[in-house]
Amino acid sequence: MAKYPKVNYIGNKEKLVNWIIEEMPVKKGTVLDIFAGGCSVSYALKANGYSVISNDILYADYVIAKAMIENEDKILGLSVFDKKADEARVRELTDKFSFLSERLYYREEVQELGKLAAVSEQLKDNEKYLFLALMRRAMIRKLPYSRMNVPWNQIQKLRDEDYSYKKYKRKRAYHNQSFESHMRENFEEYNAAVFQGQDCKAYHCDAFEMTKKIDHVDVVYMDPPYPSTMNNYDAFYGLFDEMFDKKKQHTDFTRKADFLDNMDRLIQKLVGKTGYVVLSQNTRIRPEPEEIEVMLTKYGRVEIKRKKYNYQVTGKENKNSSKELLFILEMGI
Ligand SMILES: C[S@@+](CC[C@H](N)C(=O)[O-])C[C@H]1O[C@@H](n2cnc3c(N)ncnc32)[C@H](O)[C@@H]1O
Repeated sequence: MAKYPKVNYIGNKEKLVNWIIEEMPVKKGTVLDIFAGGCSVSYALKANGYSVISNDILYADYVIAKAMIENEDKILGLSVFDKKADEARVRELTDKFSFLSERLYYREEVQELGKLAAVSEQLKDNEKYLFLALMRRAMIRKLPYSRMNVPWNQIQKLRDEDYSYKKYKRKRAYHNQSFESHMRENFEEYNAAVFQGQDCKAYHCDAFEMTKKIDHVDVVYMDPPYPSTMNNYDAFYGLFDEMFDKKKQHTDFTRKADFLDNMDRLIQKLVGKTGYVVLSQNTRIRPEPEEIEVMLTKYGRVEIKRKKYNYQVTGKENKNSSKELLFILEMGI
């Protein structure tokens, strides 16, 4: 059985996917995962025999969707690391990536990124995306807190293994390993995660744009950035998009003030295009779940499923556990 690999995605649904799959209102058919992120839900849907359309506004996530959801059979050979990259192209890309220097990584590390990106350009289709998905994971693994918006002075401090040991009793030497060594470590796992599904597709669109690309699906699963939580995905991963000139403007779902209004407009666009909308939220969000329920009720019959979920904060169990919610909207009833 294929297994979802290590992706390190903030707000991922890895621990909840079995429950989400159980609660899916149809047991087969096509599901559009419209805010797919690290693709944990898309992957579980694919593994359970659904035809999956996986979409996200970030290129950093699109490469995962291409590699793990759309990809049916392309895997990488270890010889990919022996490929000779054109030296002029490596210099060009290293220059292009210089905005990451002393912002996320040391200068010589940015040069390694230049080389890896030049190698990726020699690969075709889903092999390229598999390589880029490994590269994304290596970039995140090297960053303290696994995100791209930690200030450089803090990154430097946390990458100092003696400091980290004194302060946290952990050296976190993996921050100082090369990108390639991380990619090699995850190589088998990523290859093993590739399997043939039921005609799955990946998209890199704003959610509104995505609604125009479908005629009809059985379910639209929505896991948007939860309002009033740590939800700035552009800041967490967007520098990857900038490296490859893939940054896109998009509707902002992170603000509490117009979240409900944006969701309302989005669901309006799906009238006649889906049998169900399944929306993930939790009990901590503002606007309150009751307000969301009222908005959804305009479009059909709503059922709410609750699951207890203990939020992990810096490795400790937070006592104020929140409940994860699934709103299941049957359209037009
Ligand atoms: C909570 S995360 C999804 C996590 C995902 N279910 C997983 O398991 O990894 C929300 C996602 O919405 C995406 N997003 C935010 N605004 C968007 C928009 N306007 N259109 C499409 N995707 C968007 C973010 O990039 C982020 O990946």
